[in-house]
Amino acid sequence: MASDAVTLITNDHRIMEQLFERLRSGTGDRQLLLDECAARLTAHSHAEEQKVYPVLAELDPQAQEEAHHGADEHHEAERLLHDLQRISPQGPQFEDRLEDFIAAVRRHQEHEETAMLPKLHASLTPEQLTQMGSAFEEVRIAELAVAGIRV
Ligand SMILES: [Fe+2]
Ligand SMILES: [Fe+2]
Repeated sequence: MASDAVTLITNDHRIMEQLFERLRSGTGDRQLLLDECAARLTAHSHAEEQKVYPVLAELDPQAQEEAHHGADEHHEAERLLHDLQRISPQGPQFEDRLEDFIAAVRRHQEHEETAMLPKLHASLTPEQLTQMGSAFEEVRIAELAVAGIRV
């Protein structure tokens, strides 16, 4: 079903948060949950960097700065997650590192939801937002398929 980029990006942020809660609870297989986190984070980030941030960057000079900053934050979140994947989920450092990673992703998501997405919503037509949504989903779903995750 076609949907606009603002809705699709926001929904995907909520899926990540559900994964964070499962990781925090410690009830599932944490390595598997981290693998799914990595696949979803990378797919979401690449889809934004390819199909959303370039459009944002064309709106005004401040938006261009925001787009660059957003990509930097994606790389920082990926770095924190890779660190987390290298330590034992049963080890003493895991909980603190997990909270650092979650906090970094949540800060980034909140910024997108309070600044970037409202700016896109105000600047693009409904048709443009739907087109952006389709393009975002195409990249995201293709990357998840490579990782073996069906949406
Ligand atoms: Fe992002
Ligand atoms: Fe995002």
